[in-house]
Amino acid sequence: MDKIHSLTGMLDHYDDGDIENISVKIFETEKRIKKVFTNYKYSEIRTPALEDTNLFVRSAGDASDIVNKEIYSFNDRNEKNIALRPEGTASAIRAIIEKKLDQTNHKLWYLGPMWRYERPQKGRYRQFYQAGVEILGYEEGAPEYEIISMVCSIIEEFKLKNCSIKINHLGDKESKKLFCDALVEYLEPFKDSLDEKDLTRLTKNPLRVLDSKNKETQSILKKAPSIREFIKPSALSLLENIQNEYKDICNIEIDYTLVRGLDYYSGFVFEAISSELGAQDSFLGGGRYDHLSLKLGGKNLPSIGMAIGVERFASLIKDITTSNKVVSFITLTSNLESKPYKIAHQLRSLNSNIILDLQLSEGSLKSKLRKANKNNSEYAIIIGEEELRDRTAVIKFLNDELKDQETVSIKELFSFYTSL
Ligand code: HAM
Repeated sequence: MDKIHSLTGMLDHYDDGDIENISVKIFETEKRIKKVFTNYKYSEIRTPALEDTNLFVRSAGDASDIVNKEIYSFNDRNEKNIALRPEGTASAIRAIIEKKLDQTNHKLWYLGPMWRYERPQKGRYRQFYQAGVEILGYEEGAPEYEIISMVCSIIEEFKLKNCSIKINHLGDKESKKLFCDALVEYLEPFKDSLDEKDLTRLTKNPLRVLDSKNKETQSILKKAPSIREFIKPSALSLLENIQNEYKDICNIEIDYTLVRGLDYYSGFVFEAISSELGAQDSFLGGGRYDHLSLKLGGKNLPSIGMAIGVERFASLIKDITTSNKVVSFITLTSNLESKPYKIAHQLRSLNSNIILDLQLSEGSLKSKLRKANKNNSEYAIIIGEEELRDRTAVIKFLNDELKDQETVSIKELFSFYTSL
């Protein structure tokens, strides 16, 4: 029979214990990012993968690439048009409105797959994972500092190098309108030089022209008015304060041309990029979206959030060794011998901070030790026929240049393991 293949741009991930493997890095990234979220006292929200397509049309905006060409939408058996979520923010707000919780404050996190019908390439997939947070119900100020502090905590947790955070402010309603008018006026004489995509952006959401990939548009934009001249002094000082407070942790750059690909943003926006990523260099993005709740039929709910692209982020991390020690448990007895497994069980209950990898496969000591090295074990506990008979075990020190191995009684093994 023919084999069935996965769909283009949709990857399988499997933890084979090799710390160099991207899947292993992805799982580790997810675990540790979740820990940062919970340490900041955020609560988990989990929404469905499928939503009414209108949710994304109304939130991302009909000038966005997401809605124009990337959305996975189709009619279900009942002829209802539904879509696989391309991002998590709209769903979170929809859920909060639906639960009638849109008049209170929330600090939420989520982690899950998103879908965008993009041309797959390195760092760009059709199914990818986002880990995000949304801070709902707070005006500009404290949440901006909190969210950049969280981004910095994540950068510190993973010891990321070669990255920077770009920040900008899209202004309040009034200054955004004045800037958009000035931009349209400036671009008017160049209309014939703009491509179809930029012309559409110019009429639907002029700010998005600043994100144009067209070289000619980019050169026209060099002399365009800057948003810096339109935003309020309070917005300028917010940008400067953020830059000053966090520059010791990560390079923070004020970029007055930064606009985001979704229409709902209104105010402070940011993106984290890395020179190690190539063309798809942004591993995290977010910003304030004060009007989304109203647009989705809810109450006034000023909000800000961000999402990390897990695959891109994971590809940046070098060292995923955790603080939990890994120990390999190697039996060289017949597979039907039950005693070693009971010893492993007792060890596990003695010290739950240790990750004990009980190797189930039959094989030579050499191949089992190779596996122990690959999964970063600090020690291997080896039990063969002889050890079983003498009620002993061998402790092999895998990271110690001075010590090789020691034979100990089972009682000594238990106290050694407890002390790890
Ligand atoms: P976004 O910038 O569209 O923002 O996506 C956030 C991150 O998801 C990007 O920085 C990137 O790392 C990753 N990403 C996006 N598309 C792909 C893809 N096709 N393949 C792999 N990774 C991808 C949002 O989605 C907003 N909801 C963020 C937000 C939350 N704003 C406020 N709250």
